[in-house]
Amino acid sequence: MTLITVDQALCARDGICRDVCPVGCIDMDRASGLPQETPDPACIACGHCVAACPHGALSNSQVDAAACLRQPTDLPGEASLRSLLLARRSVRAYRRKPVERSLLAELLETARRAPTASNSQHVHWIACADKDRVHEMAQLGARWMRAVGLRPRLVELWDKGRDVVMRGAPAFVGAWTPADYPWGAVDSSIALTYLELHAATAGLGACWAGLLTAAARQQPELRALLGLQDGQTLHGGLMLGWPRHAYRLVPPRREARVAWV
Ligand SMILES: Cc1cc2nc3c(=O)[nH]c(=O)nc-3n(C[C@H](O)[C@H](O)[C@H](O)COP(=O)(O)O)c2cc1C
Ligand code: SF4
Ligand code: SF4
Repeated sequence: MTLITVDQALCARDGICRDVCPVGCIDMDRASGLPQETPDPACIACGHCVAACPHGALSNSQVDAAACLRQPTDLPGEASLRSLLLARRSVRAYRRKPVERSLLAELLETARRAPTASNSQHVHWIACADKDRVHEMAQLGARWMRAVGLRPRLVELWDKGRDVVMRGAPAFVGAWTPADYPWGAVDSSIALTYLELHAATAGLGACWAGLLTAAARQQPELRALLGLQDGQTLHGGLMLGWPRHAYRLVPPRREARVAWV
């Protein structure tokens, strides 16, 4: 099946589609100056050839042009993006106010556009806007921590009624991939980071749920609650909710240890 089709009347023969293709699917024909697909193109359906063509001259059988969005131009300035990144904190105290499902759905709409290795898009999501259900997750997480002897001090606090696993968060989003997908942890982490930063712009606080993620690797009841089947690895998750406290300062972190090579 033909991969790319070029409208010769529109094409400016500038080679942009060739330049942006990550896997070398496109050559420029010497005689006509037009782009042409290479033999057996290993297209990863990234959409760059369609999206970067300035003249709308190229279509690709793997890319639904109608599903492309307009390239946004109202980007935040360097200063405001830096402020967002610095202001992000792991939020562990939440107001009672629930998080609407529709807001989680909006965040997932952004997160699903995070980069994935070879555009493989293997990240799947578990989303929960039910505070009681999140608390059940916390209970199972705490049970697992006790069973494996992890963080006894936190288990003690749990026994005193403090939710040290999910912090009483009203919502949760987790990311999993097939266990045999080698970039699962990386892709999931990037996507969750997209989600966390988008959440921050909406005033929503988040914290990485590492204890729950570790528990979900081993504990059958928690895996069942999350709907995880054999061969599916939860790589990370975020507890989410409206922050109860504001921060006055950005805490210090180590200087970047950089080897310039
Ligand atoms: C873990 C990871 C590894 C990647 N490695 C490469 C790479 O070696 N070369 C490359 O051209 N793109 C690489 N990419 C970029 C992906 O191909 C790209 O994110 C994907 O095609 C989707 O395109 P987009 O980032 O423009 O949305 C990588 C992305 C991720 C997340
Ligand atoms: S969709 Fe991506 S990989 Fe496929 S031909 Fe276009 S640029 Fe190349
Ligand atoms: S990017 Fe568009 S205009 Fe440029 S060579 Fe490719 S098809 Fe032609």
